[in-house]
Amino acid sequence: CNNSDTGGDGGDAGSGNEPIVLGFSQVGAESGWRTANTTSIKESAAEAGIELKFDDAQGKQENQITAIRNFIQQKVDVIAFSPKVETGFETVLKEAKDAGIPVILTDRAVDTQDKTLYKSFLGSDFVKEGRLSGEWLVNEMKSATGDVNIVELQGTTGSAPANDRKKGFAEAIAKDPKLKVIASQSGDFTRAGGKQVMEQFVKANPKIDVLFAHNDDMGLGALEAITAAGKVPGKDIKIITIDAVKDGMQALADGKFNFIAECSPLLGPQLMELVKKVNKGESVPARIETQETTFTQEQAKAALPTRKY
Ligand code: AHR
Repeated sequence: CNNSDTGGDGGDAGSGNEPIVLGFSQVGAESGWRTANTTSIKESAAEAGIELKFDDAQGKQENQITAIRNFIQQKVDVIAFSPKVETGFETVLKEAKDAGIPVILTDRAVDTQDKTLYKSFLGSDFVKEGRLSGEWLVNEMKSATGDVNIVELQGTTGSAPANDRKKGFAEAIAKDPKLKVIASQSGDFTRAGGKQVMEQFVKANPKIDVLFAHNDDMGLGALEAITAAGKVPGKDIKIITIDAVKDGMQALADGKFNFIAECSPLLGPQLMELVKKVNKGESVPARIETQETTFTQEQAKAALPTRKY
């Protein structure tokens, strides 16, 4: 598999004296969130004495499928992965099930009716993140008069966070008919994507009041396009993002962003607990939701000094 490396300090966590072997397929390194997530998984595996076979799919679903097949061939004890998109994983999940290897979904879900294909899904409620973002905007704009024009930078097309955040946000802003999404396009969760799509948005739309970006990185990329168009981010165009990684929190504290709904990348410790349990054949909850909060500019200033990632 691509870019595989092995972490873990051995240990005595598996059957007999062998450490548990965990195959983990990561989406890629598209964002600050993803980098923090990878670090959390590698560090937690080492701390738990779990031998980690880590594969970076470099943003390609086909690489994730190949990595999972390799893990099956290598007869790892447990497979975990963060599926790039929601569809197209059923066949390989069936292969893992037939080989008797338990699978844990982390961060993102897959769209399947067959819930026996994985043991647990550990990650955020993305619909809620979108809804909290929309609810903040409804309140912020309650006394505004006239249409409020919103542009939306979507995450990776077909991914659970892009689908769900869009849905949650749309549901929340539907309560106020003056809030209108006038353009919505994918920036693929990257800074470069955010910048490029925002450039098109500002060219095509003379009046943009709000940007809703599905992650901090796209919002950070968009800042450049907004400034280049002679607008002041955070004032002329209010900016709402999701994640709350350090660079995003800094932009919020600096008044360039206006609101962030948190999405925690620190899934490693909980994942390793799950890995140990499913390896022993213990039952685990089908869904474990990450605990998260939201940040205003003042809250970001207070939280930044102790922010770990
Ligand atoms: O799946 C989580 C999302 O993926 C994060 O919000 C985004 O930054 C990342 O790339």
